[in-house]
Amino acid sequence: MPSSTTSVTAVVPAKINLALSVGPVRVDGFHELATVYQAVGLYDEVTVTRRNPGSGISMTVAGVEADAVPCDETNLAWQAARVVAAEADTDPDVHIHIVKRIPVAGGMAGGSADAAGALLACDILWRASLHRERMLELAAELGSDVPFLLHGGTAVGTSRGECITSAMARGAYHWVFALSDRGLSTPRVYAECDRLRTGAKVVEPVIPAGLMEALLVGDPKRVGAELANDLQPAAISIRPELDMVLEIGRDAGALGAVVSGSGPTCAFLVADDEAALDLAVSLSASGLCSGVARAEGPVAGARLTDS
Ligand code: C5P
Repeated sequence: MPSSTTSVTAVVPAKINLALSVGPVRVDGFHELATVYQAVGLYDEVTVTRRNPGSGISMTVAGVEADAVPCDETNLAWQAARVVAAEADTDPDVHIHIVKRIPVAGGMAGGSADAAGALLACDILWRASLHRERMLELAAELGSDVPFLLHGGTAVGTSRGECITSAMARGAYHWVFALSDRGLSTPRVYAECDRLRTGAKVVEPVIPAGLMEALLVGDPKRVGAELANDLQPAAISIRPELDMVLEIGRDAGALGAVVSGSGPTCAFLVADDEAALDLAVSLSASGLCSGVARAEGPVAGARLTDS
């Protein structure tokens, strides 16, 4: 990359949790997790462009639900630019432009994806030459899902989700997503999960062995049957209609149906393109979701584009 580079673009996928086991609340307020992430082919695009010295950070957002995305220091991509500037010992004079295709507040880690993209792109723009390990550390400080979005593929996440280990996984998986135009707040869903479990003994989170075996052999039918999310009852408690959305998928013969992360997006694993199309039609006709998206997984994590 020449030193005169003025602009760098990264594309970053969305994630779903094939399994999300939520353990007890820790002293830092986070929940101990054991999760299996998969990166899926819905992408946000993050472009960082040099600004004049002393200009600071600015941000614009285009695409789906762009109005719902804050363009200030509360945006994780903004925070990512600030931490890379500090590492590179430079002033954060940069414009960040995000093109959104990942649902906003949808349980697919769209905000974390933008942070991962900004980390990668700013590293190149400012020639910070961060080691992969340091980049993952900074990612973890920004948010629990950010390291996985740098990693991509299929991976196990532990601790609060930020400790990533590649999973032995074969096969390509066809996903259909039922979208909602009303996002869900992640802290609210975790709080509801705690409320629903009041008085119950909360055990340490576990990775389901059956899911790992199914991924190892690359059997979508078994993977579908093993999809699990401890946050699902909480998301349904806040949005009861999500139960009906999941039911549509099961009735249509999906191999598996699960709320994605903290929701409200619902993810359906299907056998092939034909099944994906049939389910997309049923979901659209139901009037219960604001849109339908399709993607394959696993895909690579955040990467730079040539432009
Ligand atoms: O790490 P991240 O900023 O994505 O987390 C957002 C919120 O989700 C946290 O503030 C917390 O309320 C909840 N969370 C949690 N336990 C985790 C991950 C997230 O309670 N392991």
